[in-house]
Amino acid sequence: MSDKMWAGRFSAETDKRVNDFNSSIRFDCRMYEEDITGSIVHARMLARQGIISAEDRDKIEGGLLSVMSDIKSGKLPFDPNAEDIHMFVEAELTARIGEAGKRLHTARSRNDQVALDLKMYLKKQTVQIAALLLELEQTVTDIAKKHTRTVMPGYTHLQRAQPITFAHHLCAYAEMFLRDVKKLKNAAENMDECPLGSCALAGTTYKTDRMYTAKKLGFDRPTGNSLDGVSDRDFVIELAAVISLIMTHLSRLSEEIIMWCSWEFKFVELDDAYATGSSIMPQKKNPDVTELIRGKAGRVFGDLTALLTMMKGLPLAYDKDMQEDKEAIFDAVDTVKLCLTTVIPMIATMKVNEKNMAEAGKKGFINATDMADYLVKKGMPFRTAYKITGTLVAECVKENIGLEELPLERLKKASELFDKDVYTAIDLMTCVTRRESEGGPAPEAVDRELAALQARAAQLKEWAERK
Ligand code: ARG
Repeated sequence: MSDKMWAGRFSAETDKRVNDFNSSIRFDCRMYEEDITGSIVHARMLARQGIISAEDRDKIEGGLLSVMSDIKSGKLPFDPNAEDIHMFVEAELTARIGEAGKRLHTARSRNDQVALDLKMYLKKQTVQIAALLLELEQTVTDIAKKHTRTVMPGYTHLQRAQPITFAHHLCAYAEMFLRDVKKLKNAAENMDECPLGSCALAGTTYKTDRMYTAKKLGFDRPTGNSLDGVSDRDFVIELAAVISLIMTHLSRLSEEIIMWCSWEFKFVELDDAYATGSSIMPQKKNPDVTELIRGKAGRVFGDLTALLTMMKGLPLAYDKDMQEDKEAIFDAVDTVKLCLTTVIPMIATMKVNEKNMAEAGKKGFINATDMADYLVKKGMPFRTAYKITGTLVAECVKENIGLEELPLERLKKASELFDKDVYTAIDLMTCVTRRESEGGPAPEAVDRELAALQARAAQLKEWAERK
């Protein structure tokens, strides 16, 4: 007869191919700490409730701790033939302590066990991703602080539009990153219900104490329904969705850095340590890191799609399909952490070319709106001012000059309202400093934004450190 834990009912050995096909140990082994911690607390609860003896509890606890430390030190390798991490730990425990080990699985099932392990594991990962994002946000705002007066063109349709500053542009990403951290915090809070004790699907006849295990394992409360407790994977999907959004933000920033590194822009230059060369073109310095981030965003969206599709047709409660959740969410978690840890030092060491940003600002008539506004402030209706400025732009395009290069007599021919103060009004630095509206690019406005970002980041950081 087979040595499987569920062997009683079977008379033939499982086909080797089915064994390998069914096994999840090669990827769920990373949850061994959560699995063992969950089991220790479960055993303590069983003893408190008089379901197992104090003596057995002590044996179980001692055995589990020795299994944990042997896995950690590398003394105990994972058995690739084990069905999953839960079976592996239990079998190893029983091999070490005998009979008492066989009592651990009372009032529990692998269905609530796997839901518990995954939730505990992902809660930790969520906080780690948040900490990395906060570091990135800090990196970005540190650079922004140095560039509140670094004028560059702001774009719409990738056409030069209106003058902004590099600080203002970077702060837009800081806003995205803080929103992401807030979503991670929310996702972590949604993981606060403990599924342990739901058992296979229908709870148990033993007098268990689910509040005890929930609290000891760092949850706020037990899940409210045993069917939902074992079959809910919303927390996995929600985290994958937040990670997808983070990847979207990283990918947009990457795309901009790729453009900014090109000879056409040359707004920034990556440190040699964060760029790569070409095997054939000796002049090349490529932004591979950012391109990989852009590419990996697609891969993470694939993980999210896999999870949603895997869940959408499943009847309650547990179905084996759900074993597929782990590789997808682990991949998403690993990928976003890898991207964040690489992009932080890359951005911190990137050189900013203020001269080229200013130079780019001079072309493209990004002060045209300000010229129209100048006329409006002298009493002209905006639509008329818009038209007059547009005509002047067309003349400048033909002559390949900027609006500021038109002599006053020519301006006066277009409108009597023009005076020599127009040249200050359309100076790019003036255009920026006058955009003081809340959230705008004026240095004072950006200083206020930076202060607000810092306050929000400090609050979120406090949460991440507490967890
Ligand atoms: N390895 C399984 C998983 O990842 C654990 C739960 C198995 N439960 C069961 N009844 N087969 O989903």
